[in-house]
Amino acid sequence: MVKHKLRDSDFLSLQMLDGDELEDLVEEALRLKREGTKGFKPLSQKMIGILMEKQSTRTRVSFEVAVRKLGGYPLVMSKGDMQISTGETIGDTGRVLSRYLDGLVVRTFGQDRLEDFASAASVPVINALTDESHPCQALADMLTVLEYKGSFAGIKLAYLGDGNNVANSLMRAGTKLGMEITIASPEGNEPDRKIVEECGKYCELYGSTLVIGGDPVEAADDADVIYTDVWVSLGEKAEDKPLEQFKRFQVNYELLQNARDDVIVMHCLPAKRGVEITSEVLDGSHSVVWDQAENRLHAQIALLGMIFG
Ligand code: CP
Repeated sequence: MVKHKLRDSDFLSLQMLDGDELEDLVEEALRLKREGTKGFKPLSQKMIGILMEKQSTRTRVSFEVAVRKLGGYPLVMSKGDMQISTGETIGDTGRVLSRYLDGLVVRTFGQDRLEDFASAASVPVINALTDESHPCQALADMLTVLEYKGSFAGIKLAYLGDGNNVANSLMRAGTKLGMEITIASPEGNEPDRKIVEECGKYCELYGSTLVIGGDPVEAADDADVIYTDVWVSLGEKAEDKPLEQFKRFQVNYELLQNARDDVIVMHCLPAKRGVEITSEVLDGSHSVVWDQAENRLHAQIALLGMIFG
């Protein structure tokens, strides 16, 4: 039997999967969602730690449920209750937790901090969000696109707003799957330039396109998917951001008129209603955000299955 690349491996970024491997993982998530996980227990007798250095609702709960569904035991840890909050290094924490646990899901600050943790740990480590990326969110997002659009090639996804970790991971996923990705952000809030360059190479490899711009109406033109996220991410301060400049990037009914008639609207949540998205759109007929949130669970079941299966 061929060993999957993710078997016993860390999952720190989408960089580690090529387009075919990413597509396989998303298709497996869709299969598991449709067929269920009955009898599939790759985590039997395994203890998985979920270490949160920042707040979380969806990621923490969906991982906890995914681990239980796959036969394992989740152990949730919050930074404030741990010695990392009193100065123990992230590496020493990873080294010690690996002696008790079979895998670790970690939400933290810098990608380098996650990498330090993973280098010291001797069990698989999964990125549950860093300031740079949110690959588990992107897996669920691609699952949602596949469910609603049936394929990836040529699907236009317009992301409007802050060029944050979610935008970075969406660019990586979309350009590896042959999509047309457009990111429209206020000046100075574009996604990470290095990741844009990296995704340029995926465009050449996979026949996708990536446009970085500053015009939300142009970005939304003929879009199959419109995506947004909060303008002030976890750990940022509203007073440090030019929120006035963000206002024209709001996803509202008027903006939606530029997109295709069957456009779907996505948001990774939590949303600030009336800020980056109106309630009318979030609760409207084009919104798929609740399915998208549910898909965190199915995507992570597939991911855990590939790592521990
Ligand atoms: N989308 C997301 O990561 O949600 P949480 O911050 O609630 O985990």
